[in-house]
Amino acid sequence: MFDSLARQIKDAQKIVFVTGAGISQESGIPTFRGKEGLWRKYDPMQLATIDAFYENPGLVWEWYEERRKNILAANPNRGHFAIAELAKHKDVIILTQNIDGLHQRAGSKKVLELHGSIIRIKCTSCDFNDNITKSFEELPPKCKCGKILRPDVVWFGEGLPQDVWSDAITHAQSCDVMIIAGTSLVVSPANTLPLYAKQNGAVLIEVNPEKTVMSSDMDLSVREKSAIALPELVSIIQK
Ligand code: APR
Ligand code: ZN
Repeated sequence: MFDSLARQIKDAQKIVFVTGAGISQESGIPTFRGKEGLWRKYDPMQLATIDAFYENPGLVWEWYEERRKNILAANPNRGHFAIAELAKHKDVIILTQNIDGLHQRAGSKKVLELHGSIIRIKCTSCDFNDNITKSFEELPPKCKCGKILRPDVVWFGEGLPQDVWSDAITHAQSCDVMIIAGTSLVVSPANTLPLYAKQNGAVLIEVNPEKTVMSSDMDLSVREKSAIALPELVSIIQK
């Protein structure tokens, strides 16, 4: 089974990766729903919704500043680098739910950030937005226009950036292989991307040490950490 899949993958023209928090776990960034997951310690409804932000912008900002510090101190791992390496030989697009920018720091160019970026900061009122890596002295930070700034991330209850989402669907519908790495596939609409790919006859490969709700839809499930499995998978594709 693996041989025939390996051949299909090797012949693939276009490979789309759908990635989640698990691919950054080996960079020291906690996932959301695992044993040590963030949502085990914090209530997402208190910290990752637009209402929570307007109710208590200081608390939400404290949490995001903590995460920004962690993320900016983290480095891409072998899983991120393997995908960047593959993109030198194949048409590779990354549709990531991650907001940590590690794919880009590993050298990947074609990255769609479905849930935004914790490094990009935008104004809640005017059209200011910029990548800001320094920490803010005063929380919540203020824009020059006087209004408060926010991380340019997608909170629960908010829609994904429309242009990013429609591009993501176009890529999912036009790939030969989709590799889904490090995501529990429980959050929509990102978890519909494998269905778009499958409808288009793509080979679906899951890289996750645990089963997910969509494991039965996969052509191959690699029960391994992505920093181990992805370099191996990429070496097969490149042989
Ligand atoms: N390698 C690969 N997968 C891993 C690893 C690893 N080293 N460690 C954990 N995983 C897997 C877990 O088994 C789990 O299936 O990564 C997945 C992480 O799932 P979640 O914590 O739910 O993260 P994710 O799927 O990215 O969450 C989606 O939910 O909270 C929101 O906006 C947030 O983008 C996030 C979205
Ligand atoms: Zn402003």
